[in-house]
Amino acid sequence: MVNSKSTQAIHGRKDKLYRGANFPVYPSTTFAVEKSDDYDKFIGDEEEFYIYSRYSNPTVRNVEEKLASLENSEDAILFSSGMAAITTSILSFARSGDHIVALRRLYGMTYRFLRDIAPKFGIETHFVDESELYAMDQKYPGARIVYFETPINPTTDCISIRKVVKAARKAGALTIVDNTFASPINQNPINLGVDVVIHSVTKYIGGHSDIMAGAAVASKKLIKDIREAMKAFGGCINPLDAYMLDRSVKTLKVRVEQQNRSAQRLAEFFVRQRKVNRVLYPGLPSSRSYKTARRQMTGFGGMLCIELGDLDAAKKFCDSLEVALNATSLGGVETLVSIPVLTSHIKMSPEELKAARVTEGMVRISVGIEDTDDLLLDFKRALAKI
Ligand SMILES: Cc1ncc(COP(=O)(O)O)c(C=O)c1O
Repeated sequence: MVNSKSTQAIHGRKDKLYRGANFPVYPSTTFAVEKSDDYDKFIGDEEEFYIYSRYSNPTVRNVEEKLASLENSEDAILFSSGMAAITTSILSFARSGDHIVALRRLYGMTYRFLRDIAPKFGIETHFVDESELYAMDQKYPGARIVYFETPINPTTDCISIRKVVKAARKAGALTIVDNTFASPINQNPINLGVDVVIHSVTKYIGGHSDIMAGAAVASKKLIKDIREAMKAFGGCINPLDAYMLDRSVKTLKVRVEQQNRSAQRLAEFFVRQRKVNRVLYPGLPSSRSYKTARRQMTGFGGMLCIELGDLDAAKKFCDSLEVALNATSLGGVETLVSIPVLTSHIKMSPEELKAARVTEGMVRISVGIEDTDDLLLDFKRALAKI
């Protein structure tokens, strides 16, 4: 009997042929039928009948089932990237003439997709702030989709999932949340009534900065719709990458729990530093997101943000680090730092930066699984150089 999701993440499908400890990789793009009439099974949507790997593949299914279980959901679907998961999911449910209500503070490429590309399909997006999102049913009662993220990049501000779901239900809209920053270990939005959960699997789930992948997690019915769109858009994952992901998923819980612990200690360390003006981390009782995070997260995550005096100080700090890498992306075993105004928030106007609560002296930290004392020393030395 498998009850706990961390156990399920290790013991998925069995290698019935040779009883190997790992479920094998099936790199085949095509699968033969024993007789031509077997194609009826494909037409009849039989789940375990594989004919072509863009549609479905056993190695990929093994990981999809694990992700569904980690998110407490019925089903999941893997993609070649987080963006493939986001765009395919949105285009599965929105059609020409539909309106989307989206949080203004989104991952940059998601924002640009909704702003610049979705309108080409006749889909318009209203970008709103947090309070408008909680009351979206009043202003946008006919919206097709409500799209948001929590915690938000890079400030780690948390949005109340419960409040968004309540408003979206009143409006009759489907809810989609990007759960990348939290990972399925720290937050399970399906439990709170969200319809579709998105992950950039490239981040925590992959966890080693060596796999590009994405996922959508939802009910069987919704995943069936998303899979139909995926078959056409073609953003399927490679079975070899899915096999690598199977290894990653097995260690997800221990990695994320270590990242949670380290991030908490680092946040508490930065709060005490004179040269740090502000520390943004949902696990600090002084954080404006602390209450919301406590209500909906089981861990506060491995992402935090510090604010130094100015851009020069941020650059000097990042350039002085010896353990942490100055690189974009997040969620890997190695600690990364990045300056939002030079990366995720580059070329934004002062007004846009203000709305995003991003300042020039900000440094975003994705905490890895190195020894926390080594990280503390690295950050202490870098602070001394500014
Ligand atoms: C919150 C979030 N969502 C989605 C994405 C896109 O994922 P991918 O790079 O795997 O396409 C990213 C990438 O940085 C992200 O940070």
